[in-house]
Amino acid sequence: MSPIIKYFTIASLLYLIVGTGLGLIMAIYPPWVNYLLLAHVHFLLLGFIAMMIYSVGYHVLPRFSGFNLYSEILVAIQFYLANIGLIGMSLTWIISKDAAFGFYSILALGLFAFIEFSGICIFVFNNVMTLSGKGGRIAA
Ligand code: HEM
Ligand code: HEM
Repeated sequence: MSPIIKYFTIASLLYLIVGTGLGLIMAIYPPWVNYLLLAHVHFLLLGFIAMMIYSVGYHVLPRFSGFNLYSEILVAIQFYLANIGLIGMSLTWIISKDAAFGFYSILALGLFAFIEFSGICIFVFNNVMTLSGKGGRIAA
């Protein structure tokens, strides 16, 4: 497995700890559900589950299809976008629940959501290009 794909696996496992850790805190101290719920949900679904799928998908789909991965550079770009987007969205949710940031929290959430969404689009593009053989056939 190439290093950048392995980083997605490592990040996924870290987000499992962070996400369930936030769940544990909410279970112990329910008043914080208000602050932590959205970060808990997205660390687990966009962090743990999606990033595990990204890494396994990038490793397995080329082998299933018989075509090389289209672009490792796009995987690296997606890795940064996915992590910056997720951490930014989650911190914005946690911080802005208690403060009157108003316009600025909407702006921050929108920016990080756009970054996250761009990473997802790159994942789809890279896989479509791989599966349609644009990376060339895997040498026998
Ligand atoms: C140690 C493990 C976990 C603990 C202690 C935990 C705890 C919690 C708590 C306390 C809530 C808030 C309930 C409320 O609204 O009052 C919650 C919500 C939620 N959790 Fe977890 N959780 C854990 C693992 C997971 C995992 C592994 C996932 C998904 C992969 C997950 C997905 C969700 C979702 C989607 C919600 C929001 C449900 C809704 O829309 O109301 N949780 N969790
Ligand atoms: C670019 C990606 C994503 C963005 C920008 C995003 C954004 C949001 C926003 C703005 C909310 C509503 C927050 C509020 O109530 O104020 C939300 C809720 C939620 N999202 Fe996401 N989301 C994304 C991806 C996902 C994915 C991939 C999943 C699941 C696989 C997911 C699961 C949920 C759930 C379960 C809730 C409801 C949580 C609750 O209120 O209990 N999201 N998301």
